[in-house]
Amino acid sequence: MRAVIFDLDGTLTQSDEGIYKSICYAAEKLGFSAPEETERRKFVGPPLLWSFRELIGMDEEQAQQALVAYRERYWAVGLFENRVYPGIRNLLRMLKRRGDWVAIATGKPIEPSRRIMEHFGLLRYFDRIVGPGFGEASAEKDALIRAALPEQYDEAVMVGDRCFDIEGAKAVGITSVGAGYGYGTEEELREAGCNHYAATVSDLISLLCSGEKPVPGAFLSVEGLDGSGKSTQIRLLAEALDRWGFVVRHSREPGGSPVGEHIREILLSRASEMEPLTEALLFAASRAEHVRQVIRPAVARGEVLLCDRFVDSSVAYQGGGRELGVQHVLNLNAEAVDGTLPLVTLYLDIGHEAALQRRTAASDPDRLESEPDDFHARVEAAYHQLIAADPERFAVVDATQPPEAVGEAAAKAVIARLVAAEEAQA
Ligand code: TYD
Repeated sequence: MRAVIFDLDGTLTQSDEGIYKSICYAAEKLGFSAPEETERRKFVGPPLLWSFRELIGMDEEQAQQALVAYRERYWAVGLFENRVYPGIRNLLRMLKRRGDWVAIATGKPIEPSRRIMEHFGLLRYFDRIVGPGFGEASAEKDALIRAALPEQYDEAVMVGDRCFDIEGAKAVGITSVGAGYGYGTEEELREAGCNHYAATVSDLISLLCSGEKPVPGAFLSVEGLDGSGKSTQIRLLAEALDRWGFVVRHSREPGGSPVGEHIREILLSRASEMEPLTEALLFAASRAEHVRQVIRPAVARGEVLLCDRFVDSSVAYQGGGRELGVQHVLNLNAEAVDGTLPLVTLYLDIGHEAALQRRTAASDPDRLESEPDDFHARVEAAYHQLIAADPERFAVVDATQPPEAVGEAAAKAVIARLVAAEEAQA
C-alpha cells in the first residue's frame, strides 16, 4: 500500500484569509495595530504564539491572551474563510480509487482541521488526521508525519508547501513533494531538498496518479426567464464551486462551440425572422455540437461544466413560448442530447411579470427577449411543467430575493448534490 500524507494549510486549502483576519482581530483586541495586508502570507504555517511574539512584538503573556482572542474569532468565522485549491477534490478521489492510505499531518489543532474538511465534504477521503490536541504545543513536523503513517506501507509520500514539510519528510525517510502553489517559494522547497516539485495541483495529479484515468466531473445547467438574474448567479455559483475545490468551466447555449457560436448569431439577431420549427432545429443543432465537442469531453476530464441554458430552454421557449409543444420539442432534441442531461439544473424562479420589469431596465434586448409578455408567460408555464416532471434534477431557488441570498441558496443546493454524486461514485 502507498501512503500519501498531506500538509493542510497551503497544500489542500488556501487558508490565509481566515487566519489573517483572526490575527488582526486578536492584535487589535490587545491594543496592537493589525499587520499589513501584504504581510498576510507570513502568518500561515508558523505556530501562532511565535507569530504574536516575533511578528507583532508581544510578550509571552500578551501572546497567550492574543491566542484566546484569535480562537474566539477563528472558530466562529475564520475557519470557513477558506478555499480548497481547485483540483484537490479530484486528486483525493483518485487516490482513494487507487486504494492509497491518505492522511493529513498539520500543525493546526486537529479539531478545526477536521471541521474544515467536514465543511467541504472531504472528511471521508482521510484515513487519519494528525495535529496537536487542543492547548498542546505544536509538535515537530516529523513527529506529526510519523503519527500520520499507517503501521505498514510499501511506499510513502509527504506533500507540503513549506520547508518544514520537506525537512520533516526527510527526517522520517520518506519521499517529499513540494507544493509550489502554496505559501512557500520554489526556492525554499528546492533548498529544503524536495524530491519532486509540483507547481500546480494538476502537476501533483500527474505525479501521484501518472497515466490514470481522471475521475468524472459533472454537468450543471442554469435556467430561468430572461431577467431572472442568470448572469450574476452563474458568476456567484462559479465562485462558490471554485472555493470548494471544483475545477469549473463555463459554457453557454446557444453557442459554446465554434459552430454553435455561429448558430447563436443567426438565432439572436433581430434581423432573422424564421419559422418556429427552424428556430427549434437550429437550437438543437447547436446543442448536438456542444454535447459532443464540449460537454462530454469536459466531464470526462473531471471538470464541472457550468452551462448557461440547455435543453430545458428549448422546451420552455420553443415548446411553450412558440407553442410547438413540450413533447414535440423534447422529441426534436432527443438525438442532439443523446442522454446527456445535467446532474443538477438550477432554476432561478421569478414570475414573468417581475422578469419583465427587470428586463425593461436592461438595454438592447435580443430577438427572443423582445417577444411580448404572453410569450414569456408561456415560457414560465413550460418551465414549471418540466420541473414537476423531474423534481430530482431541478434545484429551484426563489430569485426574487437579493442576489447574495439567491447565490447562497443556489450554491448550497448545487454543492450538496455534487458532493453526494462524488460519494455515490466512490
Ligand atoms: P441568454 O442566455 O438569455 O442570452 P443572454 O443572457 O446572453 O442575452 O439566451 C439567449 C436567448 O435564447 C434567451 O432569450 C433564451 C433563448 N433560447 C431559446 O429560445 N431556446 C434555447 O434552446 C436556448 C438555449 C435559448
